[in-house]
Amino acid sequence: MKTPLKVAVTGAAGNIGYATLFRLASGDCFGKDQPVILQLLEIPAGMKALEGVVMELFDSAFPLLAGVETTDDPNRAFAGVDYAFLIGSRPRTKDMDRADLIKVNGPIFTAQGKALNDHASRGVKVCVVGNPCNTNALIAMHAAKDLPRSAFSAMTRLDQNRAVAQLAAKVGAGAGDVSRMVIWGNHSDTMVPDFSNATVGGVPVIEKVGRDWLIGDFVQTVATRGKAIINARGASSAASAASAAIDHVATWHFGTKPGEWASMAIPSSGEYGVPAGLIFSYPVTVSGGAAHIVEGLSVDAWTQGKIDATTQELLAERAAVADLLA
Ligand code: NAD
Ligand code: LMR
Repeated sequence: MKTPLKVAVTGAAGNIGYATLFRLASGDCFGKDQPVILQLLEIPAGMKALEGVVMELFDSAFPLLAGVETTDDPNRAFAGVDYAFLIGSRPRTKDMDRADLIKVNGPIFTAQGKALNDHASRGVKVCVVGNPCNTNALIAMHAAKDLPRSAFSAMTRLDQNRAVAQLAAKVGAGAGDVSRMVIWGNHSDTMVPDFSNATVGGVPVIEKVGRDWLIGDFVQTVATRGKAIINARGASSAASAASAAIDHVATWHFGTKPGEWASMAIPSSGEYGVPAGLIFSYPVTVSGGAAHIVEGLSVDAWTQGKIDATTQELLAERAAVADLLA
């Protein structure tokens, strides 16, 4: 039997947390032979609901679930953790952009970054889901002065999955037939769904569906999908977000398959002209637990214009939380 991995989930009684825990406990993320200990964080008002979630985890009799701890103290939740899913925070409502959440959610990530710094495993890997996730990851990274910057990432895998699903549906293929569909930049309407290297069944998507649809309806649908779901459900995406979080962390843990790319928002070191330090979604390959930005891609003028716009938005978000980055 392998040593259990310690996995923290914040906002564990919330909609995304609820959908994530059962996938973690069933082995969907770390493998069917890897036990996990779940360390669940909620605010005091969420602790009662969390008790019920833990009862359901218990009732599922998962063979891989080696322990569950609950707390409203980040210092305890992050003690010794190998992975942390930072989900707990407020979701937007119909009339809001994700960036509107910055003032209310930002400070959460200062406190949690410090707690990770002081208590997590030195090899911890952190996936920030709570919005605005790129800038919240930036805040947490700044608060965790002793952890490597490479410990922090934000989730754009949901955007990648949405793009893959749209392409597959358009050509009548399966999602598994789509490769190298990636997202650049911010998890916001300015994201850049980059189809230029994407293939379906080995054939470039541009040949299959034409550029007009790709730069028009396709990009618009992917970039505004979060709002469309809020309008339809009356609540933001939850199960698909949880599924993307599982995909993101599973890729980080196991690596990308040969020839495959994934989208991860990670600290920029200036690649592709993005200012160093921003948490920016790039096409990456992953091996040995490390994400490597795909180098040497030629970026056309249309894509570059969109990369510039999403970069400007991230710079503005960073300026808005300058007090949390000191
Ligand atoms: P939710 O309101 O259902 O649940 C959030 C939970 O977090 C609640 O149970 C709440 O009590 C808890 N919480 C709040 N502050 C906390 C704190 N400081 N510490 C620990 N727990 C805390 O919301 P949800 O639908 O689960 O969404 C959570 C976040 O994820 C939102 O910010 C949402 O916008 C974001 N989101 C991101 C993506 C993405 O692709 N990156 C996708 C969907 C949703
Ligand atoms: C999403 O993309 O579904 C989430 O970020 C929720 C939102 O506010 O759009």
